[in-house]
Amino acid sequence: MKKFLLFPAIAILCSSLIILKAQTPFIWAGASASYQVEGAYQSDGKGVSNWDVYTNKYEVTKPLTGKVQTGNFSINAYDRTQYLKDIALMKELGITSYRFSIAWTRILPEGTGKINEKGIQHYNQFVHDLLSNGIEPMITLFHWDLPQALQEKGGWMNPASVKWYEDYANIIFRSFGKKVKTFITFNEPQADLFLLTPIIDNIIQKKQIPFIISNEQWSERATAAHHLLLANATVIRDFHKMNMPGKIGTTLNLSPAIAQDPNNPEDVKAATIVDGLFLRWFLDPLFKGKYPADILTLFQQYNKDLKPTAEDYALFAANKPDFVGVNFYAPQYVTQDKYQTFGVSVFGKNPDAVPMFNGPVRPEYLYKLLMRIKNDYGNPVMIITENGAGFGVQDDTLVNHSVNDVLRTDYIRRHIDTAMQARKDGANLQGYTVWSIFDNFEWIFGYDRRFGIVYVNYDTQERIPKQSFYEYKKIIAAYKKK
Ligand code: GCO
Repeated sequence: MKKFLLFPAIAILCSSLIILKAQTPFIWAGASASYQVEGAYQSDGKGVSNWDVYTNKYEVTKPLTGKVQTGNFSINAYDRTQYLKDIALMKELGITSYRFSIAWTRILPEGTGKINEKGIQHYNQFVHDLLSNGIEPMITLFHWDLPQALQEKGGWMNPASVKWYEDYANIIFRSFGKKVKTFITFNEPQADLFLLTPIIDNIIQKKQIPFIISNEQWSERATAAHHLLLANATVIRDFHKMNMPGKIGTTLNLSPAIAQDPNNPEDVKAATIVDGLFLRWFLDPLFKGKYPADILTLFQQYNKDLKPTAEDYALFAANKPDFVGVNFYAPQYVTQDKYQTFGVSVFGKNPDAVPMFNGPVRPEYLYKLLMRIKNDYGNPVMIITENGAGFGVQDDTLVNHSVNDVLRTDYIRRHIDTAMQARKDGANLQGYTVWSIFDNFEWIFGYDRRFGIVYVNYDTQERIPKQSFYEYKKIIAAYKKK
């Protein structure tokens, strides 16, 4: 009799052990990107990237900051003496994972062809150093710094970009795929292809108002986005074929579009367009295998060459990401605006009294976004791969060697609370990542915007944890205990 009872008991025990094992611990992370932090722009055989050229040759930070600023030295994160100190701070913070990107030009200086072993060695050492400090590496393969050699061949506009990227990604998988559990194919292609690239083109061409992106410019970039999405699906296929032990996903900036006046049908229409341009244009092919019809029709009015095929759609459908990386900073209030692309305010509006750099502070929209991904896109695994606050410099002043960044501290706490609520309510959220641990180079805004929870003195490279660092540390410790 007893024996019979024992078997079910063992079976229950085994299955609960399996469930325990399957439940991966929540990821607590911080994020960065190669061009924004590494510096060392000519070290160890690195090739030239488009961003080296944008900043040094075309001085793209000048229109916004009045200064010529580059990532040539940045926060010196390539340097091992420096980054070991930075890892020690991350360890003190308690993060379980660190998101960083690989500079393609360090691995393949010309974009394709000959591998630069020193680049591989560098990231191998970095991965090893993170792991030996108990921090899991989360690698972004591409965070906007394209080899200049490929840029000169048209970059993502060139259909060959699919193969360039595939070859590069395969080198990364072969080199780090056994040790690294989380890979991100692309970071925010929307911001890169639809906003930054045309604005930079306009700066280079010395257009009076570089922020005006024409309908033709935007629609033409949809071809680049299409190649990028084909490249995305191709390397996800490769990664799975290679039986890599980890997961691979794609990171999008998912800034919800809200009609400024919900009772005004024109604003509502504008919000639907902006939602399509930024969210659905990427989420739909990733998780539904095809482009949203309204936006495809819009783009095709200005770009006759944009013709996705049945094979393209089959490739998307068969190779979904293992997770979606959610970058959320703020929603945007949208209106009709005849001076902006497609007659809508693609840059959004910020009615807040103390305006945050990335838009109005509305944590409830993070909750809504996560629930929407759950309900409309089949509840894929979600990892918040960026969330953070860049306020004006007045919020980051050093007083007695410390920074009391009240607004950022409050921002982070409220966004984590709301994200955790969505998790409780069924959204398949498995991680949270703050942008960023350290102040760094904010693209065309140079060093004039600070996002770090650690202050960086750019002259001395001294690091000073801000109030938000201690708050995030407390939050992580409290959740780990639960
Ligand atoms: C992004 C980025 C970061 C930015 C951050 C703050 O825009 O995608 O991934 O590189 O620095 O978002 O604006």
